Amino acid sequence: MIKTYHFCLRTLFLYGIVILSVGCSTVNQKKESDRIIDVDDRAIQEIVAENAMVVSAHPIASEIGLQIIKNGGNAIDAAIATHFALAVAYPSAGNLGGGGFMVLRLQNGKTDALDFREVAPKAADRDMYLDKNGEVKEGKSLYGHLAAGVPGSVDGMIKAHERYGSIPLPKLIQPAIDLAKKGVLLTKKEAEKLNKHRENFIKYSSSPPKDFIRKKWKAGDTLFQADLAHTLEQIKERGRAGFYEGEIAAKIVDEMNQGGGLISFEDLKNYQAQWRKPLIGSYKNHKVITMPPPSSGGLALLQMLKMIEDFPVQQWGWQNKKTVHLMVEIEKRVYADRAKYLGDPDFFDVPVNQLLDEIYLIDRIAGFDKNKITASATIGAGLEAPVESEETTHFSIVDTQGNAVAITTTLNREMGSKVVVNGAGFLLNNEMDDFSIKPGHPNSYGLIGGKANAIEPQKRMLSSMTPTILEKNGELFMVVGTPGGSTIITSVFQTILNVVEYGQTMQQAVSLPRFHHQWLPDTIYTEQIGFDKKTHNHLLKMGYIIKKRSPIGKVDAILRREDGKLEAGADPRGDDAAAFY
Ligand code: DON
Repeated sequence: MIKTYHFCLRTLFLYGIVILSVGCSTVNQKKESDRIIDVDDRAIQEIVAENAMVVSAHPIASEIGLQIIKNGGNAIDAAIATHFALAVAYPSAGNLGGGGFMVLRLQNGKTDALDFREVAPKAADRDMYLDKNGEVKEGKSLYGHLAAGVPGSVDGMIKAHERYGSIPLPKLIQPAIDLAKKGVLLTKKEAEKLNKHRENFIKYSSSPPKDFIRKKWKAGDTLFQADLAHTLEQIKERGRAGFYEGEIAAKIVDEMNQGGGLISFEDLKNYQAQWRKPLIGSYKNHKVITMPPPSSGGLALLQMLKMIEDFPVQQWGWQNKKTVHLMVEIEKRVYADRAKYLGDPDFFDVPVNQLLDEIYLIDRIAGFDKNKITASATIGAGLEAPVESEETTHFSIVDTQGNAVAITTTLNREMGSKVVVNGAGFLLNNEMDDFSIKPGHPNSYGLIGGKANAIEPQKRMLSSMTPTILEKNGELFMVVGTPGGSTIITSVFQTILNVVEYGQTMQQAVSLPRFHHQWLPDTIYTEQIGFDKKTHNHLLKMGYIIKKRSPIGKVDAILRREDGKLEAGADPRGDDAAAFY
């Protein structure tokens, strides 16, 4: 029965309109087929490769990464080249001026995690966004120079290269330099984003960034980035010092001085990406390798997977009323813990083991009532003893040896702080907004926090980014991650369940509509396409508030099938694309 259902579901999602009817009588074909996101070729095509694959937010960046592999590089080399290429081809989130996380699994099973998250400048302090009366100065953590944390991406790529690179670094940066000089053909979405922020660039940068505001952009225009090419050349020639010291550092500090920002020479020189021990958990017969704090993403994902593991969600069905209700109840509990206990582990004692303790988690969901909602107001953080338009981008890579890399990297919101460093051609992040700038005050994703995530000099702001790799029977199974702020964690959660529980292909799992709940606000968010009517009405009747919003996440993932072939999931919500051979 379950098998037939899966078969029907897979077929219907794949072909959109009713093509297959045999044995599908129990499923309303039209309804399901109508619900796939953006029914274009990319949403339903099945891409399968024999050797290697790069899935990223931009086809050129994916292609650059793949070329590195074809030239004998490994997945880490490809990731570094892809990261630099995204800084050029995808300026809204690809970056030199931001930060991120990398999770990797080598073909021999060794795993590692790299934290190149931004840190608060040394001159930052807990109340820097509050006025004399303790009220939040609106917008200061989001727009302009004061919103920027010390960038981590360049040091991250260099540290990744030092430990795992097999091709000289200059060769991994050169394609991005060429791209910046020869120009990138803008997609419609990228052209629109540049136009949308034109006034912001002028308002918040010390000098109008000429490359970005040269004209009103349209799809097919070429974006040349001479200043950015020069910055990349500095990094190519001088490595870390080409960014964190010397000319480029001086340009960053000058930009800060012009706009009242805090990042100093000392901040830049002191910045260090950190190797961390990945968080390892399990879901049924899968090993889950994911990012530890200062991201909350990995821990929250493992909590969700453990809480749902013993429920018969496969039998209940995909986005069935019972399944959605259970997932939402789990999400509320997990985000309540996030708000209280998660922060930079170098500054705050995050109770990782307690939060991942199986008995704690089973106990926490034990009160689940399939007929009743638990109001968020009645859910507190669970441990007894008190313990102290969006843009990001994710890419997934598997090379010919089977080495796998998952990277999520960000400026935080679309185009970050909107500050382009004068003469250096790159945007600075607005990651400071990911701190809890005042206890209980929601950040731009509606997330709240307190002491654990309060601002302190040189501390990392809490993240939701969740680059994740799954193993099955000791073999690589999935590489997954997404942008989306607070929705990152629930998007990765859903993508994993879509494949493991509902037998969807990687592309279906990525293309199908998603939903999100984060404890506060006490609302289920869906994409425009929403739930099917039956689920929707049932949830309303239970008392849920359901709101439609813009697309949730942009998942780029790779599934390694039992036959060793690689299946792509490139999100049709963006220009995302797989390069493969
Ligand atoms: O680190 C975080 O959780 C956020 N700064 C990520 C931002 C993001 O995903 C925006 N994307 N759509």
